[in-house]
Amino acid sequence: MNYETLKVERRGRVGIVTLIRTEALNALNNRLMDELTHAIDALEADEAIGCMVLTGSGRAFAAGADIKEMAFKTYPEAFGEDFLTRNWERVTRTRKPVIAAVNGLALGGGCELAMMCDFILASDKARFGQPEIKVGVMPGAGGTQRLARFIGKSKAMEMCLSGRMMDAEEAERCGLVSRIVPDSQLLDEAIRTAEVIAGHPQPMVMMTKEAVNRAYETTLSEGVRVERRLAQSVFAFADQREGAQAFIEKRPPKYKHR
Ligand code: CAA
Repeated sequence: MNYETLKVERRGRVGIVTLIRTEALNALNNRLMDELTHAIDALEADEAIGCMVLTGSGRAFAAGADIKEMAFKTYPEAFGEDFLTRNWERVTRTRKPVIAAVNGLALGGGCELAMMCDFILASDKARFGQPEIKVGVMPGAGGTQRLARFIGKSKAMEMCLSGRMMDAEEAERCGLVSRIVPDSQLLDEAIRTAEVIAGHPQPMVMMTKEAVNRAYETTLSEGVRVERRLAQSVFAFADQREGAQAFIEKRPPKYKHR
């Protein structure tokens, strides 16, 4: 596929997807979401890739769904094409970790896309918000659900009902982002973090991601049961032996990701 709205790079075991619809603040139109779905399919299928970074360009990570494209959409069209589902949810199904490196505005669908990733690193210039209500719609790509889980009901409700933006400091304080990084270092730091993750044994990375995600989908006792089974299964992998052996021999491990 010839990408128009994003670029994909591979650096070692890290796949980097940069949204480059810069002139429209990376507004998420159908083309961009198709391309993102395709790019993630390709990186997921690539055995040489262990972790992905998703970032924006210019002033924005993404300023939301494309309002101009949505302007005259009808309900039968939205229903028929499964709007906000068909090509919007690929990130949530990725078994490899995806880090959102939020470089600027992450609004509406842009904030929702960042929250679909596994964690968010924010530039000190990042701004987050669910301003859909200000343009006559409402969050539709998981915003009401994921934001409430990230930051609690009171703040999520205020953000969604008022449409106000929060800055990076507030986003870190309330748990929406894992860390703030100076703007000029954001991408390097995101790649460095992704390299660390991708250097760990791939099966354990994928199982750990799956286990943490269960915490948001089930009860504590069921989540712990899932974690227990996954943690027992690590003994089926060569990398478990290698990790322990390397520790005992006081040398760096050489993982085969098997
Ligand atoms: N859709 C389409 N185009 C957008 C856009 C969007 N969400 N956000 C920005 N753009 C375009 C603008 O139309 C403008 O294009 P032109 O130069 O062709 O006019 C360009 O990007 C630059 O934007 P502005 O001139 O508006 O820049 P600004 O600095 O004055 O304002 C902003 C920045 C406050 C973010 C403003 O652009 C804005 O309010 N954007 C819309 C944000 C929004 O409401 N997002 C939610 C969309 S709905 C949604 O996402 C539904 C869902 O849950 C999935």
